[in-house]
Amino acid sequence: MSATARKKAPNAQDIRARKGGEPLVSLTAYTTPMARLMDDHCDFVLVGDSVGMVLHGLESTLGVTMEMMVMHGQAVSRGLESAMMVIDMPFASYEHSPAEAFRNAAQLMSETSAGAVKLEGGVEMAETIRFLVKRGIPVMAHIGLTPQSINTLGGYKVQGRDEQAEAVLEDARAVAEAGAFSVVLEKVPHKLADQITDEIEIPTIGIGASAGCDGQILVVDDMVGFFTAFKPKFVKRYAELGPLAEAAIAEYAAEVRARTFPADEHVFSDQAPSKGPKT
Ligand code: KIV
Repeated sequence: MSATARKKAPNAQDIRARKGGEPLVSLTAYTTPMARLMDDHCDFVLVGDSVGMVLHGLESTLGVTMEMMVMHGQAVSRGLESAMMVIDMPFASYEHSPAEAFRNAAQLMSETSAGAVKLEGGVEMAETIRFLVKRGIPVMAHIGLTPQSINTLGGYKVQGRDEQAEAVLEDARAVAEAGAFSVVLEKVPHKLADQITDEIEIPTIGIGASAGCDGQILVVDDMVGFFTAFKPKFVKRYAELGPLAEAAIAEYAAEVRARTFPADEHVFSDQAPSKGPKT
């Protein structure tokens, strides 16, 4: 086990105490370098199971395993000092029983040093959330569009329009009452997100929800333009790094083929340079 406590990072109680205050800032991360870039800017960083689609080319998050989450969790943990790390429980690691959820959540936390786990589901997961919290595992809930359930939801649709609104509200109440320290609201109408934020006592973290939520989260590769397979409406592209990286790769390929790379400054002579006085 490689758990090492970080110094300044907020914990679940600190995040919980931010309800109604300055908005919480969060992004996903899957690697050490990306975690380092966001450490000073985020309150918490989520090792999301979106890693399956973003880095591993899977069509959904359903194929993400515990092993993948542990490996990416360890990588992200090495890049964080001041942001809290939350880690997703992958599909089929928590739904069967609270006891199995505890075993897997404990493994994720002890092997990655995450400060909390996130799991998807509302009313139906309340018992599991209560079980985990009572045994020392802080839980961030995730309701609205829950991507691990796309096969029963029928796709990545907005959740909570019209008569569905009451069910999403019930989910929010249930996870708050069960002891979750915060809840992600994904792809719910903005008025419903505002109503939930007003009503429940834990911070709401919006993704495709409302600027009125207590915080926001985005998938980092979406917002910097690395993941270009598709762009959900709720994503704002703050940069277009994908096309920039591709242009750099194309230039490198052309220079290799033209033998203009490596140039003189990139190769080594057969004699070590003399150690003259520094000027
Ligand atoms: O896996 C993920 O990236 C997530 C966020 C989009 C909330 O769950």
